Amino acid sequence: MSRRAKITGWGKCVPPVSLSNADLEKLMDTNDEWIVERTGISNRQLSHVENTDLAELAARRALACSGLDASEIDLVVVATCTPEILCPSVAAMVQDRIGAINAGAFDLNAACSGFVYGTSVVAGLIESGFADKVLLIGAEKLHFAMDYRDRGTAILFGDGAGAAVFEPSTDGVGVLAVDLGADGGKGGTMLIRSMGSMGEPQATNDPEIHRLYFEGQAVFKIAVQGISASAKRVLERANLTVDDVDLVIPHQANARIIDSATRRLGIEQSRVFVNIANLGNTAAASIPMAICDALEAGRVSPGDTIVLTAFGGGVTWGSIVLTWGERVEPAGVHVGELPPTDMTSLDLLQDNLRFYAPLHTDKPSVV
Ligand code: UT7
Repeated sequence: MSRRAKITGWGKCVPPVSLSNADLEKLMDTNDEWIVERTGISNRQLSHVENTDLAELAARRALACSGLDASEIDLVVVATCTPEILCPSVAAMVQDRIGAINAGAFDLNAACSGFVYGTSVVAGLIESGFADKVLLIGAEKLHFAMDYRDRGTAILFGDGAGAAVFEPSTDGVGVLAVDLGADGGKGGTMLIRSMGSMGEPQATNDPEIHRLYFEGQAVFKIAVQGISASAKRVLERANLTVDDVDLVIPHQANARIIDSATRRLGIEQSRVFVNIANLGNTAAASIPMAICDALEAGRVSPGDTIVLTAFGGGVTWGSIVLTWGERVEPAGVHVGELPPTDMTSLDLLQDNLRFYAPLHTDKPSVV
């Protein structure tokens, strides 16, 4: 049987500071009822450390879960749109920190579709024999780009990281098919302009350039259509139908988007995994964190057919269909934690609120 890429390890890192809807009510004109009804989100977690710290811990947990040593990994890929610096990559820093001394490393940016794009790259490299054991991480520290007075955007996003170890299989399990797509013409609907080489070389502290700008309703429509069409295509490519699918693990962007897209696909909600309520939208980290939560919740059984599907900035979209292997329990556990903090979300966001204040001269800069 031909060679495929299967997931043998999974791990996540959820940062410890909670930002509830009640906290958001103190920062902007919103309320818990509106947010829950329109998005399904009650809480998100914020990181007091850097993106690489989140990525490293998720990676260590996924490695322990796989039972592999870091020296056995031959490639580290990090999907992110919020690296703390552009060069070196988050992947290279993680490669060093975990001691993956035999691995190559690079970052990939497909925004919220990053983990699906990453899975397609990893699967291709493993199927071709160019790589054997690959660590794929989705990690984001999105709150730095959030203007917490922009109620149409900042209610959605949280920080976090998730990781998966992929290894070759020859018994038919693993990635069966891939569908990737993009429409760069609609890229203006979701923008983070900072960290690029745009303009003259000069220090820029312009909050307008740093913040995530996006057009909620336009993105909503693109997402619903994009996800359902892409998931249909990937199933066709694998000669499967919706009836064959045991679980859809979608990018957690908005519970209503997931609901509408999976209804279009024709799959009932009991076969769709949703964990957005406590984590919000964590972009490239959302699918690998959801994979961990689905396993923990007993929603994945050996041999299950699983669809991963996402859309995001670019705009980009993509879907993967895979067969899960035999193991649904971790082979080992990494006991490390992030450094502790006693900060509240409002403590953590003071600098952020101050930075974005010039965009809202009518509102107080510090809460
Ligand atoms: O991973 C990809 C990233 N992007 C996304 O996933 C976002 C996709 N889009 C969405 O999730 C939704 O469009 C939002 C949650 C952003 C907005 O929900 P919506 O149902 O599309 O609301 P809307 O923009 O149509 O706004 C409806 C009303 C407006 O008031 P008026 O003009 O009708 O008086 C908004 O000003 O709700 C108001 N509104 C709010 N009210 C309370 C917008 N945001 C809020 C808020 N709290 N946070």
